[in-house]
Amino acid sequence: MSLLIKNGRIVTSEQDYIADVYAEGEKISTIGTNLKVQADKTIDATGKYLIPGGIDVHTHMDLPFGGTSSSDDFETGPVAAAHGGTTCIVDFAVQSKGISMRQGLDTWMRKAEGKSCIDYGLHLILTELPDDWLPEMDAMVKHEGVTSFKLFTAYPGVFMVDDATIFKALKRTADNGGLICMHAENGGVIDYIVKQMLSEGKNTPNVHALTRPATAEQEATHRAIALSEMAGVPIYIVHVSSHQAMEQIREARDRGLPTYGETCPQYLFLSYEDYADGSFEGAKYICSPPIRERANQEHLWKALATNDLQTVSTDHCPFCMKEGFKGLPKQKELGKGDFSKIPNGVPGVENRLHLLYEGGVVKRGWSMNRFVQLVSTAPAKLMGLFPRKGTIAVGSDADLVVWDPKRPYTISVKTHFMRVDYNPYEGMKVSGSPAYVTSRGKIVFEGDKYVGKKGDGQFIRRGQYSLI
Ligand code: URP
Ligand code: ZN
Ligand code: ZN
Repeated sequence: MSLLIKNGRIVTSEQDYIADVYAEGEKISTIGTNLKVQADKTIDATGKYLIPGGIDVHTHMDLPFGGTSSSDDFETGPVAAAHGGTTCIVDFAVQSKGISMRQGLDTWMRKAEGKSCIDYGLHLILTELPDDWLPEMDAMVKHEGVTSFKLFTAYPGVFMVDDATIFKALKRTADNGGLICMHAENGGVIDYIVKQMLSEGKNTPNVHALTRPATAEQEATHRAIALSEMAGVPIYIVHVSSHQAMEQIREARDRGLPTYGETCPQYLFLSYEDYADGSFEGAKYICSPPIRERANQEHLWKALATNDLQTVSTDHCPFCMKEGFKGLPKQKELGKGDFSKIPNGVPGVENRLHLLYEGGVVKRGWSMNRFVQLVSTAPAKLMGLFPRKGTIAVGSDADLVVWDPKRPYTISVKTHFMRVDYNPYEGMKVSGSPAYVTSRGKIVFEGDKYVGKKGDGQFIRRGQYSLI
């Protein structure tokens, strides 16, 4: 299979020029003007951008959580991702208590095998790390291509680990080359506030946010960065939601530390004020860290523009509002009458590029280079996928998006591909969207038409991060 994309305006994180791109098989083989080659398929990209496929390094497909499992699996989620221009995801395998890293990884490899239409990698969530497991951590990095680990300072009894465990994991990455990703909220304090609120009869969805104050995120972010400073290694803070937490990252970076921060569309576009009335509709927006007061949003947007934050991922973790949607069980409704039982997570994998293009490029005047950097190149570099992915270059995978700036799209549950019965961004109009999406040289979407194939995506063994 060969593919020729003609006359696109090629935008990488650094370049911006008009040329043709020719892919033979899975890789880009030639870039030039007026290429005279025979191709099985030719796309005319005149007047459109050609960008590297989006890379979402924070998704949860088929994650058992909160008494159910996230509603997208490794078949449905990647289709939705591709529709929105994302051609690679990095999901999270879980080493749950009492099982080994190997068992956790095997479980996720089985969940994903033969399902995804786009490529995928895996991080590993660690819930414990006895000393004699450290060689297994090395093996994950060196032999399995699982080169990043997520640790939590939240969810006591489920995912939370203590500071010594975080420090031990960080120290080990100095030798094995892995990267620690931190969920930073003070779980002990949050649990205390949750119990207090429930005992006072405060049980509606909005109370979730009140139990997880920004100070709890700020404190844990500060602590995680301090631990990484003591260990002398980089750290990647996931789903930064508040001005206060972002300031911890900015301050560390200003001191020259290799500290990285990711935020997500829900923290850029949704606000606590939208669900403060306590109705059960608020369950749609329950995630952790929670959606914050609107005033945080502009600080996060600015941090993305100034590189105080480096990536935008989605933390895609969908749960349905109503039982029975596509045969799925009760999910958000599990928490009717008790917000603490509402499964945490929001959908978003399909709309990240739509939203960032609109909010960043159209509304705030970002360059297309910055957009590409945030949604593709920086995540590729930090998660060991670059230069195979995250750029348009000879030898890179032909994971490409023909982005049409004049192809408006209205985000809606009526047209989205995510397996979930609502869209947090319902009705939002965006000015641009993908006209074509390819994965390793094969077309996956032609506009809104899915032409990909289940199982065409491969597990990607990732390399070591490169610092950006
Ligand atoms: O609410 C969230 N974020 N759910 C997914 C799990 C996590 O902490 O990332
Ligand atoms: Zn998390
Ligand atoms: Zn997550």
